[in-house]
Amino acid sequence: MNPGPLDMARFISFEGIDGCGKSTLLEEAGRLLQERGVSYVTTREPGGTPLGERIRKMLLSPSAGHISLVTEVLLYAASRAQLLDEVILPALKRGDWVLSDRYLDATLAYQGYGRCLGVHTIRPVLQWATQGLLPHKTILVDCPVPLAISRIHSRSETLDRMEQENGAFHERVRQGYLELAAAEPGRFVLIDGSRPLEEVLKVLREVFSRWLETAFHSL
Ligand code: TMP
Repeated sequence: MNPGPLDMARFISFEGIDGCGKSTLLEEAGRLLQERGVSYVTTREPGGTPLGERIRKMLLSPSAGHISLVTEVLLYAASRAQLLDEVILPALKRGDWVLSDRYLDATLAYQGYGRCLGVHTIRPVLQWATQGLLPHKTILVDCPVPLAISRIHSRSETLDRMEQENGAFHERVRQGYLELAAAEPGRFVLIDGSRPLEEVLKVLREVFSRWLETAFHSL
């Protein structure tokens, strides 16, 4: 049987605490796919659609005011549901690769662990909002919190609503991500984001080259 576009498509998410460097890695992954002639889309969460970008402003604006914890989870989930419908599913159906700057694991790490809501409580809601779709692979860029915080401060003078959270919050998020990765070693690839940028990019290129080979050989 001839392979359909879905056999080729790969959905890859990039995760990590704020300031870990994941967005730089995503850009590099895009360059690599372009070099190999693979069509792909990049997107981000929250956001990535006109409605999602409005939700992003509501969630991240430092002047957002009080947002209840349940509302916060539902807004992230709403932005993701829209992204799935408008961008991710159509792209995968076309056979494009999808590189997403954050996805469902971010809500588990930030709201489940960071806000202490518990992953068991929110996971069913998130699964419902995403029709059970998980990335094929997730790159977790791990980095010590003090280094990440110093990077955030050096790139911008104003911190968004989530970045303003204290170090203990970001520690819980980091540990949460590590627990999620340990629970699903087949999906997660851990990259040490505290290494010099050139080394980190080299590791990323190796990982992607392997995935490209597997994707083409599985046809
Ligand atoms: P970004 O700056 O990497 O685009 O991320 C936006 C912020 O939103 C970041 O602090 C992480 C946070 N976030 C959550 O708290 N829950 C989520 O589900 C997502 C997607 C992001």
